[in-house]
Amino acid sequence: MRAPNLAMIVVALIVGSMAVLLVISSTSRQPETRSTASLIGGDAGSVSGNGFTLTSTSIEPPADDATFPAGPHVDLVNQNCLSCHSASMVLTQPRLKPEQWTAIVEKMRDVYKAPIAAGDVPAITAYLAGLGAGDEKPGD
Ligand code: HEC
Repeated sequence: MRAPNLAMIVVALIVGSMAVLLVISSTSRQPETRSTASLIGGDAGSVSGNGFTLTSTSIEPPADDATFPAGPHVDLVNQNCLSCHSASMVLTQPRLKPEQWTAIVEKMRDVYKAPIAAGDVPAITAYLAGLGAGDEKPGD
C-alpha cells in the first residue's frame, strides 16, 4: 500500500484537533459563574475560585462639583485645564498675580506637557488673574 497522501494527512490533523478542542472545552468549563449584574450590583457580591474570593464593594468617589465661574475666556480654561485635574486644583490657589499665573500655565505646558496653544496663554492668564476679582472666594 502506498504512503498516505498529503490530503489525507491534513484531513486527519483537522479531525484530530477538532476532537482535542471538544474535549478541552467540555472539561474546562468554570464550575460556577455568576452573572455580571450580581457581581456589580449588591454590596454582598462575591465570586470564589481556585482558592481565593473576589468580593465587590461599593465605593464613593470624592465629589468635586467645582466648575470655573463664568467670565471672559472661561471656555479656553475649560478646554485646556480640566483634562488632567479638577477645577478645584486651580480654584483653591491663593490669589496670584498675572505673572504668577503665567508661570503656572507655562509650567503646565513645559513640564506637564499640557497641549495649550502658545497663543492662548495670555487669555487664560487674564481669566485666572481675574478669578479673585469679585469678593466671593472661588472654591468655597
Ligand atoms: C497635561 C496635564 C495638565 C493640564 C492640561 C493642566 N495641568 Fe495643571 N497640573 C498638572 C499636574 C501634573 C500638576 C501637579 C499635580 C500635583 O502636584 O499633585 C498640576 C498642578 C496645577 C496647579 C497646582 C499648583 C502647581 O503649580 O502645581 C495649578 C494651579 C494648575 N495645575 C493649573 C492649571 C491650569 C490653569 C491649567 C490650564 C491652563 C492646567 N493646570 C492644565 C497637569 C496639568
